[in-house]
Amino acid sequence: MLLRAFSDVVGRVHVLTETDVVASYAVDWTGRYRGETAAVLRPGSVEEVAAVVALCREHGVPVVPQGGNTGMVGGGVPLHGELVVSLRRLSRVGPVDAAAGQLTAGAGVTLADVQAAAREAGWAYGVDLGGRDSATIGGNVATNAGGLRVLRYGDTRAQLLGVQAVLGTGDVVEHLGGLVKDNTGYALHSLLCGSEGTLGLVTAVRLRLVPPAPARVAAILGMKDAASAVAAAQELRRTLPTLSAAELMLRAGVELVCSVSGAPPPLAAPSDAYLLVEASGTADPTPELSAAVASLAGVEDAAVAEDPQRIAALFRYREGHTEAVNSLGAPPHKLDVTLPNSVLAEMVERLPSVVEAVAPGASVWLFGHVGDGNVHVNVTGVEPDDERVDDAVFRAVAEVGGSISAEHGVGTAKRRWLELNRSAAELRAFASIKHALDPDGIMNPHVLVGSG
Ligand code: FAD
Ligand code: MLT
Ligand code: ZN
Repeated sequence: MLLRAFSDVVGRVHVLTETDVVASYAVDWTGRYRGETAAVLRPGSVEEVAAVVALCREHGVPVVPQGGNTGMVGGGVPLHGELVVSLRRLSRVGPVDAAAGQLTAGAGVTLADVQAAAREAGWAYGVDLGGRDSATIGGNVATNAGGLRVLRYGDTRAQLLGVQAVLGTGDVVEHLGGLVKDNTGYALHSLLCGSEGTLGLVTAVRLRLVPPAPARVAAILGMKDAASAVAAAQELRRTLPTLSAAELMLRAGVELVCSVSGAPPPLAAPSDAYLLVEASGTADPTPELSAAVASLAGVEDAAVAEDPQRIAALFRYREGHTEAVNSLGAPPHKLDVTLPNSVLAEMVERLPSVVEAVAPGASVWLFGHVGDGNVHVNVTGVEPDDERVDDAVFRAVAEVGGSISAEHGVGTAKRRWLELNRSAAELRAFASIKHALDPDGIMNPHVLVGSG
């Protein structure tokens, strides 16, 4: 009965109910989170999204918004039988305002297409991440995605000037004018950014663009150990103004990527740790990078790339970690944490033993955006629902002032640990906001603060 009402709104062809078709929307990218749903709705306009939300409110139907389904924390899949609302059909790019250096995009536009549109307009987009071809800009906003260039341009929230969204109340809010200075009240776009679909569905976004930095150089530095790699990243942030990425890899992870992808080792002899660095600007940054690297301690060897293909090949050693770790069989536990810079080196060395203490024999794959303090602790060899490793790592991180979610979000995966980072007063404020914008508790009710 209700499916017919949804069909009347989005069209029969956009109400997916066939088991095989629906299945791919019900399992996350890692395979760790698997649910089920009666239907996936694919609205094609903000009006259709609003009509869907109105029906869901009226009938008390809980909703999981979904973009590219590349999220890592089980927040975009229907783990409790929710209806999935896929925003992928909202895939219109534009208008692009080349004079302002801004663009508007539908929530379903992929990050890669946003980047391409920015390029075509003579600009660049400041956020980049490995899931770019599938992840949507709506998903990026919902998770406040970070990625490879946060140290240079900031996270997704830093690019966001406004949104159009359908709130859990059913109201459509729109503020897409792109005024850079606009102190006319609460920044709803900033609030929705990182809200993981718990307050409403983002349907369009207004983004600031950055000047292109076409002169690029990248290098993989073989480092004596992880602590030297961390110290080098910290030093380069000060000595290399054109630094645009600083990514940590360890020997085991690089060897895994090579064995899965067939790529040759990045350097003639292996190092225990690697730092992938990129400098970019309008003038050739190679001399500046070479001088800065020459004064670093602990560098054993380096591979430098200046042409786009070689640079991409160096980045594949780092970006290849996600797929390589996922190819090992049972889904990994993906623990995405930020550490204060003062303890970053020490914690990068200590975290494997934190895992070992609760899961002897498990494998730890450590990599990440070390230039902004973000480390990805991936653990394999542990059952998907055995959360002892997650618990031990999150507690160790929180104890030293770190965050249990750097960039992936809280989702369903980290809800039970949120109080490690957030006070009772903050959680009460979260609950009040949730209740105000989603009074029926239908928007992603098992994610982040939850509807309970
Ligand atoms: P989904 O996975 O579909 O959803 C994610 C969350 O957002 C869910 O809670 C969902 O309900 C909500 N949501 C999605 N769309 C909307 C919407 N329009 N309105 C309201 N809520 C919505 N992330 C990083 O931050 N940095 C990285 O470096 C990074 N690298 C990655 C590399 C790979 C290979 C992969 C597979 C993933 C990577 N990710 C990374 C994770 C992922 O790409 C991001 O979290 C991304 O922002 C998710 O976008 P999505 O469209 O796939 O969202
Ligand atoms: C990355 O930096 O590669 C992503 O955040 C994905 C991952 O954690 O595997
Ligand atoms: Zn990441």
